Amino acid sequence: INIILLGPPGAGKGTQARKLVDERGMVQLSTGDMLREARSSGTEMGKRVAEVMDRGELVTDEIVIGLIREKLAEGGKGFIFDGFPRTLGQADALGALLDETGMSLDSVIEMRVDDEALVNRITKRFTCGNCGEVYHDETKPTAKPGVCDVCGSTDLKRRADDNEDSLRTRLLEYYKKTSPLIGYYHAKGKLAPVDGLGAMDDVAAEIAAALDGK
Ligand code: AP5
Ligand code: ZN
Repeated sequence: INIILLGPPGAGKGTQARKLVDERGMVQLSTGDMLREARSSGTEMGKRVAEVMDRGELVTDEIVIGLIREKLAEGGKGFIFDGFPRTLGQADALGALLDETGMSLDSVIEMRVDDEALVNRITKRFTCGNCGEVYHDETKPTAKPGVCDVCGSTDLKRRADDNEDSLRTRLLEYYKKTSPLIGYYHAKGKLAPVDGLGAMDDVAAEIAAALDGK
C-alpha cells in the first residue's frame, strides 16, 4: 500500500514513518530529508534551497516533484510519502506520477496536533546525524546522554530551521498552502484523521487501525 502522512511541522510524521518502515518494511520518501541531503552534499540545488528552508518557506514545486519522480523511478513498493505533497500542485503531480507507474494511493493519514504542542516538539527535537533516529529532550531522550540508542553515534544535532522564528513561518506556510489538501483528499475518500497528541505508540496504533484492511 502507498500512503501519505499529512500534518504540520512537528506532528510526528517522521517518527511514525520510521515505525512503519521497521514494522512493515515500507519505504519512507521524505522530501525534507532529500532536501537536507542535497544541502549537505553541496549540490547546486542544495545551495539554492538552503536559505529557503532555513527561513521556513516551501521550496518550489518543480524541485520537490523532481526529487519524488527520481525516487519512484527507482521502483519499490509500499511508499510512505512524508512531508509531500505540500501544495495542491504537488498533489496533482503525485496523482499523475502514480497513474503513470500504475500505482494507487490507499490512504492519507492526517495527523492532528495543536500549535502549542508543536512548538514544544520542534524546539526540543534532536536527531542522529548517522542513522536519522529522531529524539526529544523530554518525550524521547537517549538512554545515555549524547549517544544515539540505535547506532551508538555521538553525532546528535538540531536542525537549523527548528527555532521559533522559522517555525512560525513553517506553520503559516502549512495553514496557507498545505491544509487545503485535507479537503482535497477528503473529497477523494482517502482521508483518515488521527489524533497526533497521544503517546507515540498510541498514535502508531491509530495509524495501524486506519490502515487495516487496506
Ligand atoms: P520537513 O523535514 O518535512 O519538516 P516538517 O514538515 O516541518 O516536519 P518535521 O520534520 O519538522 O516534523 P515531523 O512531523 O516529521 O515530526 P517528528 O516526527 O520529527 O521539511 C523541512 C523543510 O523542507 C520545509 O520547511 C521546506 O522548506 C522544505 N520542504 C520539505 N518538503 C517540501 C515539499 N514537499 N515542498 C516544499 N518544500 C518542502 O517529531 C517532532 C518531535 O516530536 C521529535 O522530537 C519527536 O521525538 C517528538 N514526537 C513525535 N511524536 C510524538 C508523540 N506522539 N508524543 C511526544 N513527542 C513526539
Ligand atoms: Zn543513530
